[in-house]
Amino acid sequence: MNNSEQFLKEQICDIGKRMYMKDMGAANDGNISIKISENSFLCTPTGVSKGFMTPDMICKINSQGEVIEENLLNTKPSSEIKMHLRVYQERPDVTAVVHAHPLYATAFAICGIPLNKQIMPESTIFLGEVPIAEYGTPSTEELPNSIVPYLQNHDAILLANHGALTCGIDLMSAYFKMESMEFYAKLLYLTSVIGEPKELTNEQVTTLVHLREKKFKVPGRFPDLGIHD
Ligand code: 13P
Repeated sequence: MNNSEQFLKEQICDIGKRMYMKDMGAANDGNISIKISENSFLCTPTGVSKGFMTPDMICKINSQGEVIEENLLNTKPSSEIKMHLRVYQERPDVTAVVHAHPLYATAFAICGIPLNKQIMPESTIFLGEVPIAEYGTPSTEELPNSIVPYLQNHDAILLANHGALTCGIDLMSAYFKMESMEFYAKLLYLTSVIGEPKELTNEQVTTLVHLREKKFKVPGRFPDLGIHD
């Protein structure tokens, strides 16, 4: 094992801890993976708390989800690995995938309400909007199949009655999309409790989309917000 693999395993554990501490996964919920070559990936083990992982628990698998290097603890890959592998299959630009159950975003996913109000610059620039994929039974092919229609234009997707999935060019960018999405969901919830959220105008949104493309050059895929000048 080389140093960079060790670094990535540590980074997966750090992210798992943050997800657990930030109400994005109770008990053993959530999973994280990273592509390290065309046919090798690191992923979180199944059935353990992602808040208490150590690097020696992380699994190394191939594109079929089979373990290619046993670890000392003999852990087994996440039960949702099919969903992660489908993202890598459909999106060659993606290197990392995070699945979590962030409290507020999952509440929206359960109510069937997508995160699609343009209410603050950061969520418009970094997420655009977040759709909801149809419900699929966890661990089955239903779940990977449900996200396919959204994968080409979104890096953040809600999973109906379940949670959320984000992806990115590295572990931090995939994780930060999860954090940003949860913050956005929390804001949508709080602002509708406090009063009536005032949405940005089409002109303001257009300016932000230009900024994202021309100035920030944010990597990843974004939905067309349907606003054209
Ligand atoms: P794993 O522990 O198998 O990754 O499952 C957790 C989960 O959140 C399933 O949706």
